[in-house]
Amino acid sequence: MPTIKLNGKDLEVDGKDKLLKICLEQGAFVPHYCWHPGLQPAGNCRMCLVKVSNSKKLEVSCMYPVADKMEVSTEGPEIDAGRKAVLEYLLINHPLDCPICDKAGECDLQDYTYKYRQGVSRFDEDKNIRHTKDLGPNIRIWGNRCIVCTRCVRFCEEVAGTGELCVIERGDRSVVDVFPGIPIDNPLSLNVVDICPVGALIDKNFMYAARVWFTKRTESVCASCARGCNIDITVLDNDIKRLQPRPNAEVNQYWMCDEGRLNTHYVGSERRLTRSTGTSLEIAETGRRLKFAGILSTYATIEEMHLFKKLMEALQAGAVGFLTSVRGQAQKFPGGFVIEADKTPNRAYAAQLFGEEAVARGIAPVVGDLQSGAAQGLLLMNGIPDLPLPADLVEAARKAQFLAVCDILQNPLAAVAHVVIPATTWAEKDGTFMNIDGRVQRIHKAVEPPVTSRAESQWLQEVLVALGARPAVVSAEGVFREALPELTYSKIGSLGVKTNGHRR
Ligand code: FES
Repeated sequence: MPTIKLNGKDLEVDGKDKLLKICLEQGAFVPHYCWHPGLQPAGNCRMCLVKVSNSKKLEVSCMYPVADKMEVSTEGPEIDAGRKAVLEYLLINHPLDCPICDKAGECDLQDYTYKYRQGVSRFDEDKNIRHTKDLGPNIRIWGNRCIVCTRCVRFCEEVAGTGELCVIERGDRSVVDVFPGIPIDNPLSLNVVDICPVGALIDKNFMYAARVWFTKRTESVCASCARGCNIDITVLDNDIKRLQPRPNAEVNQYWMCDEGRLNTHYVGSERRLTRSTGTSLEIAETGRRLKFAGILSTYATIEEMHLFKKLMEALQAGAVGFLTSVRGQAQKFPGGFVIEADKTPNRAYAAQLFGEEAVARGIAPVVGDLQSGAAQGLLLMNGIPDLPLPADLVEAARKAQFLAVCDILQNPLAAVAHVVIPATTWAEKDGTFMNIDGRVQRIHKAVEPPVTSRAESQWLQEVLVALGARPAVVSAEGVFREALPELTYSKIGSLGVKTNGHRR
């Protein structure tokens, strides 16, 4: 382990690491554009200059190897002058369009310019004009803003393995482009927008949608597959404007897939179930007279699954069935990122609580009991958006003497149910999911649900209280402690906790 002195402080460091990584880990400020922790270093923006004892000139820290007894400074007039000169050079052809740029407010070029500002430009010549055009169905490039850091090009090569992007032209005409006739349209494509350090690559779905300083960011977890990528939800006026990945080395590194990122349409959909019929307490009253069966989807949170099981026990219900959604095979990318085939976020906990065999049987036992008359009542708790209810379930459920439905979107059974409870989406409640590797992670309420919606963990508890099966209604966190007593929300933190949960 070499020992170096960083800004006067002695450190033992990993000899394989480059200087910039060490500086950033130690909390030293070193501006950088082209370096990204999830990509191979390229050393082409020249912004990460530092002073090292074994060199007379300033050095590019993202490419500089450490050596024993090296002394490193990240601050000082000479270093500031070097960075200022690099920035002036990068800004020569950059337009002053921050007022209409979607990156404004979270742009490294803006931030470093503020720190090292000259205030005036010494460039009297005309600026070079580079292309503004679509690079793919979701991505548009403003070439004039591009500083050719090549993060996006390296992402497509190293992480997605698709290599659609390249740099064309030379010198100050250099700009990122696609090969003719081959747009960037891979399942991870929108990550290039997140890692663009300036506003060159823009997500067309977020274009002119919000000024980021007016928005609210909420930490959460993507619910579109069993991987549970860590995300931030950007909200303006109770409307989800975008999802972005939040780094978690154990789950999604720095990335998320486009399908998960864009799968928010149902939250503000006109097809939301908003007509509430009957009351949840009718389930308790009817449960005393009729034999119930229950169906639960693997979209439900840990808290909801725990309460649903308790309710089934309190009602002395018969069969419990499961709605799941599995599509194709898991997709693994060269950079290690995985999109799971299971398109629901919490199958692992359902398997732990009810048994994998029960989950794998799906709805068949419930349909059988309804058809034979062994069950006369049905409680259906779905929540998987856009999952068409199976025709045999619809037919059998219509024959039930009592039907209670809790779901997000309108469906044929909600239209005929005796009790309808409009459900909340993953963005409208607090709770937890267990991902495919048994990692328990938190979701947070980012937007308010429609006024008629009921948080599932609340109404399930109300029914249990009415049945005398629990003393009181508590928060989602309180229910979580009952479900997994060894954990608490604060122990889970923002990166989740690995458990011995089930992996198929
Ligand atoms: Fe080091 Fe770009 S971050 S050269």
